[in-house]
Amino acid sequence: MDAEAGAISDQVRTYWDLDAETYDHSPGHNPTTALELAVWAAALRRLLPSPPARVLDVGAGTGFLSLILARQGYYVTALDLSPGMLGQLQAKAAAAGLSVHTVEANASDSPEGGFDGVVERHLLWTLPDPARALEAWHRSAPTGRLLLLESLWGQAGGLVEQLRRTGHDALRRARRGHPDHHAEYGDALRAQFPLAGGAGPEQLVSLVESSSWGSARVERLRDVEWAARRALPHLPDRLVGVAPRFAIVAG
Ligand SMILES: C[S@@+](CC[C@H](N)C(=O)[O-])C[C@H]1O[C@@H](n2cnc3c(N)ncnc32)[C@H](O)[C@@H]1O
Repeated sequence: MDAEAGAISDQVRTYWDLDAETYDHSPGHNPTTALELAVWAAALRRLLPSPPARVLDVGAGTGFLSLILARQGYYVTALDLSPGMLGQLQAKAAAAGLSVHTVEANASDSPEGGFDGVVERHLLWTLPDPARALEAWHRSAPTGRLLLLESLWGQAGGLVEQLRRTGHDALRRARRGHPDHHAEYGDALRAQFPLAGGAGPEQLVSLVESSSWGSARVERLRDVEWAARRALPHLPDRLVGVAPRFAIVAG
């Protein structure tokens, strides 16, 4: 890794180490209702090879996906560059009596071979070279499945999603609720990431299809959206709704 890439990784690690304490306070990051957990479990089971497959969760964070997978009998390796985020994951896994192997590494340096599937949720936007990461993940699971779990936000979501976001933030502020993160990335850091403004399904399909993963398919995760909306405690939030969620699958 050259000095510039190392400096970017250091800034990203510092940001997420600081975010680790409060990341799970956001319901969008860490859904907790029985219905939400059940629809996420069903989506992962439907879109990944069956357990006991070996799955690599890249940018695993506090382990939302890793823990659901481990609970279903998958062998899970959770990779993240933030020790703070992985610490939260390990504490949650221990409390739940689940086994998740953790690796502190850059997403583009994922372990070679040995996996039946690679999954990520909300990591792509913060990678300096998403195409390079996709190649590394293919080397991690050369005959396996790729599963990208994303939502429509930012420029990629267009005016409707920007208005929804504005409404969501206004309602949260009115209730003095927790912001999603302790801070935002600064402009200089955001400029390092080509997908920092959000990425729509069209862009992600073409990114995957240009990689060694080859042809990709898309599924709208309406069940996940439905459960997330039902979990909102107040009517105005339910009227504003939640961002569209989708999966890109290849391999
Ligand atoms: C938005 S969080 C998503 C966490 C988790 N996947 C989830 O769905 O809750 C992004 C995560 O990616 C990690 N991350 C950011 N850049 C990374 C990189 N280059 N390599 C590995 N992990 C990275 C961060 O530390 C953070 O835990």
